[in-house]
Amino acid sequence: MPEPLTVRGAVLREMGLPRPYAETRPLEIVELRLDPPGPGEVLMRLRAAGLCHSDLSVIDGSRPRVMPMVLGHEAAGEVVACGPGVTSVEPGDHAVLTFVPACGDCGPCRAERAALCEPGAAANTAGTLLTGARRWHDGGGGDLHHHLGVSAFADHAVVAESSIVRVDDDLPFEVAALFGCAVLTGVGAAVDAAGLRGGETVAVFGLGGVGLAAVLGAKMAGASAIVGVDVIAEKLALATELGATATVLASEDDPVAAVRTLTDGGVDVAIETAGHEAVLAQAYAATRRGGTTVTVGLPDPSRMLSIPAVSLVAEERTLRGSYLGSGVPARDIPRFIEDYRAGRLPVDRLLTHRLGLDEINEGFDRLADGHGVRQAIIL
Ligand SMILES: NC(=O)c1ccc[n+]([C@@H]2O[C@H](COP(=O)([O-])OP(=O)(O)OC[C@H]3O[C@@H](n4cnc5c(N)ncnc54)[C@H](O)[C@@H]3O)[C@@H](O)[C@H]2O)c1
Ligand SMILES: [Zn+2]
Ligand SMILES: [Zn+2]
Repeated sequence: MPEPLTVRGAVLREMGLPRPYAETRPLEIVELRLDPPGPGEVLMRLRAAGLCHSDLSVIDGSRPRVMPMVLGHEAAGEVVACGPGVTSVEPGDHAVLTFVPACGDCGPCRAERAALCEPGAAANTAGTLLTGARRWHDGGGGDLHHHLGVSAFADHAVVAESSIVRVDDDLPFEVAALFGCAVLTGVGAAVDAAGLRGGETVAVFGLGGVGLAAVLGAKMAGASAIVGVDVIAEKLALATELGATATVLASEDDPVAAVRTLTDGGVDVAIETAGHEAVLAQAYAATRRGGTTVTVGLPDPSRMLSIPAVSLVAEERTLRGSYLGSGVPARDIPRFIEDYRAGRLPVDRLLTHRLGLDEINEGFDRLADGHGVRQAIIL
């Protein structure tokens, strides 16, 4: 039996510490012990990891998870070793990690809805790998939890084979990592969940990593108008560079009225990525009769949404949620990488900062302040 590996990783022990994180340091960079991969598991040398708002929501306590946890879920790296029974990768392969391990066998998996895998969701809630195992231990020997089967903020991780998708070696790791969450989620919301077609009009509420990926997806799908909405002016400027045809500063103008005016009475598709139920209500109200609203943001579980019930029927509106882009990562990540290589999806434009693991708390302050888009931790 191989010895456990010593790994440097970022551990969250307590949610809800006050800001600034540069002072309270919720993520502690420590030496951890990592067990070798078991059956169906893979040891990865992680090379790059993105900071996503879903990580921040665990740190600030609005998306509670079991503690303590090695945080992070958007990453790419290299396969170091495979446990028994692993067939899809071998040592040396490069791979993107995805944050729902899909068992391949449950009802949702068989219906090509891997994002809803039932054993995958149960393992993610429990903070374990798909097998139920926990491979992390801290210096004192206590067990730590895995974050969404990934735990990206560490130089190595053990993950289920179904948490990784092999990619070509020439894709830079910090670009590859984006495909695991921001791209899969944002582009998938626009082209798959919303079923956006050429000529349709779109509004994207919230222009962070996920929202700007949705803008890129909408442009690729041939939307005739793309309205970007945010409360931070620098986000609007970047959205315009990436394909938004108009923008609205929601801290100054009523975004519902503005979107309706800009699009002749409302958009065909509204995509919400701000993570606030009030913004979801605005997105819904900004669609035209017969329009579709796709929500991607993850508000605190205690928050409720209120909409006029009759509008779903009398105005034939559609409201749907989208998790992990509503698709199958093993199929959609290679598909979106092909779009990137062909120049249809310039997702590298989402990368605004490169940080060392020691700068991670400062990175989360920046994300919470709404500055920058995707920040890559280079591992
Ligand atoms: N569904 C999924 O599978 C999935 C995957 C990843 C992230 N998420 C969720 O999606 C959301 C976005 O993630 P992200 O990493 O892009 O976050 P982010 O912080 O980078 O982006 C959020 C953006 O929303 C903007 N915003 C805040 N208040 C607003 C308002 N009132 N009106 C308009 N815009 C507003 C912010 O300024 C920011 O630009 C989060 O809730 C995250 O948890 C969901
Ligand atoms: Zn994410
Ligand atoms: Zn499944």
